[in-house]
Amino acid sequence: MGLRDTFLGGAFLAIASLAHAQAPAVTLSGRVTSTTEPRMEGVLVSARKAGSTITQTVVSNAAGHFNFSPAALAAGRYALSIRAVGYELESALEVDAPAANVELKLRKTRDLAAQLTNTEWFSSMPGTAEQKRPLIECMSCHTFERIARSKHDPEAMYEVLKRMATYAINTSPDRPQKRANPRKFDEATFRRLAAYLASINLSKGATWSYALKTLPRPRGRATRVLITEYDLPRKTIAPHDVVTDANGIAWYSNFLENTLGRLDPRTGAHVEYTWPTLKRGAPEGSLALEPDRDGNWWLATMFQTGLVRFNIKDNTFKVFPLPPDLNNSEAQQSMVQPRQAHVDGKVWTTEIGRQVILRLDVATGKYEMVDPFKFMPENTNHSPYGLTADERNNLFLMDFGDEVIARMDAKTLETTIYPTPAPRSRPRRTMRDSQGRIWFAEYAANKVAMFDPVKETFKEWDAPTPFTYPYDVYLDRNGELWAGTMSSDRVLRLAPASGKSIEYLLPRQTNVRRVYVDDKVTPVTFWIGSNHGASIVKLTPLD
Ligand code: HEC
Repeated sequence: MGLRDTFLGGAFLAIASLAHAQAPAVTLSGRVTSTTEPRMEGVLVSARKAGSTITQTVVSNAAGHFNFSPAALAAGRYALSIRAVGYELESALEVDAPAANVELKLRKTRDLAAQLTNTEWFSSMPGTAEQKRPLIECMSCHTFERIARSKHDPEAMYEVLKRMATYAINTSPDRPQKRANPRKFDEATFRRLAAYLASINLSKGATWSYALKTLPRPRGRATRVLITEYDLPRKTIAPHDVVTDANGIAWYSNFLENTLGRLDPRTGAHVEYTWPTLKRGAPEGSLALEPDRDGNWWLATMFQTGLVRFNIKDNTFKVFPLPPDLNNSEAQQSMVQPRQAHVDGKVWTTEIGRQVILRLDVATGKYEMVDPFKFMPENTNHSPYGLTADERNNLFLMDFGDEVIARMDAKTLETTIYPTPAPRSRPRRTMRDSQGRIWFAEYAANKVAMFDPVKETFKEWDAPTPFTYPYDVYLDRNGELWAGTMSSDRVLRLAPASGKSIEYLLPRQTNVRRVYVDDKVTPVTFWIGSNHGASIVKLTPLD
C-alpha cells in the first residue's frame, strides 16, 4: 500500500500505510562486526518494512549484539541500515523477519565528511571560538557540510553570505523563501567571516587542511533505547514543534508551509489541515505550536503574521491577524503562549520585526504591544524568543539576542530583567515545571539552565559535548532533563541533581528544534521533529 493524497475542503489528507499493530511480534536480532572491531558497540541498526513509512532503530550492545524485540516488529521483509561514524554496510541488506543471528558486516567509509555532524565540523575546524561563533546561525537552514565542501575564495564567499541574508529563516534548500528585505548585516563582520570560511573550505585543494574529528559512538546506557521515525509524505514538510495530545496523537507545526499536521503513532496515519493564508506573497509556515487549556492548538505564523487557533472539536481554524499599523514587511510572530489564557483571556506572542512582546485579547482580537527591553542600554541586541507563563499568566521570556531572561507581570506589564550567569548565553526555548521553575536552553553558551522565580536564582549545567548548542529542554515527571540540538544529532538526558548525563545518537541527520516529553506514558517518551528531514521522531528510553 502506498500513500494516497486527497484534497478535502482545506484539509489535506495523507493516509500512510498502517503498521500491523495487532500482528504478533517476531524476532530480528544479530550482531555487528568489522575487520577492525569484531564486536561493535553503539552501532545504530535501523529496520524498515517494505512499503512502510515507519523506521525502527535499536543500538548494538557491548557484545556487538542488536535485538529488535522492544520494537515488536511484525513478520515481513525489512531493509536494514546502520549509523556508526567512519563505517558503512558492506552491502545493502534486506532480511525476512523472523530472523536471528543476522550478521551486519561493516567496512570503513570512503567519505567520512558525508557522515559528520555539524558538531563534528565545529570541533574539527581550526579557529577561535570567536571565529566560529557566528556560524551557529548557518545550521538553521542547512548542514555545515555544504559550507565545508564549497570552493569559494573570500570574495565569492562574501557574495554567498549576502545571498544568505536574503532568505527568510523558515527556508530550506528544497523550499527557499525570500524575505521582503534582506536581513541587515555589517560589511566588516561579513568580510571577516568570509575570509575565515574560505580558510576552512575546499578553496585551496581537494581535501581539507585539517583532520576530521569524530565523536565516540554511544556506550552502555546510551545504547538502551528504541527510536521510531515516521516519515512525512513531502520533503517540504519541516516539523518544528511536536506535541502529543491527551490521546497520544502527535501534532506538529510545519515551518515551511501553512499546514498543521496530525500523526497517529499507533498506525502511522497522517492528516494535514491547511490554515488560511494571512499574508499573500510572504514566506509560509509557522513556528511555535502550543495547546490552550481546552486542547485547542495555537500556531505562531511567522511572516504570515498574527496567530491561528485550531479548534479540536470541529477541526476549524480561527485567525487573529495583526492590525495594519503593526503589520509591516518585517513583522514576524515566532512564539505563542496560550496555556494560561483561561485566566485572563490573553495570549502572549512575540513580534520579531520590532523585538517586542504582543498580547492578544482573544475575545476582541486586539493586540497590545509591550517593549520588555525599553530600560536596557540602547547598544544591546535583543530578540524575544521562548515564552512560558505561570498560573496568573505572568510571562517569562527568553532574550535570544542577548543574555537575559525576563518576567512580565500580567496585571501591570512591568518587566523584570534577570541576566544569566553565563555571559552571551542567548537563551532559546523554555518550559515551566509543576513546581514553577523555568527551564531553558542557553544556546550560545552550550549549557542548559534553570531559573527559580521565587528565590530569583539560576543554576546552569554544561552540555557534555562541546559545540552542541542546546536549542530547547524539557523536564520530565521523573525530574530528568531532556535537550535537543540542531548540530549534534544527539539527544541529551541529564539528571540535574547529580549532573550525570548520557547522549543518545539519532539514526539520521536530525535538525532538532522544540523538544517534548510525553509524561502520561511509562516509560516517558521523547518527541521531536526532524526539521530538515521531514519526519517525526519518537525516542523511548529502555531503562
Ligand atoms: C535562512 C536560511 C539560510 C541560512 C541561515 C544560511 N543559508 Fe546557506 N543556503 C541557503 C539556501 C536556501 C541555499 C541553497 C540556495 C543558494 O545557494 O542560494 C544555501 C546554500 C549555501 C551554500 C552553497 C551555495 C554556493 O553557492 O556554494 C553555502 C556555501 C552556504 N549556503 C553558506 C552559508 C553560511 C556560511 C551560512 C551561515 C553564515 C549560511 N549559509 C546560512 C539558506 C541559508
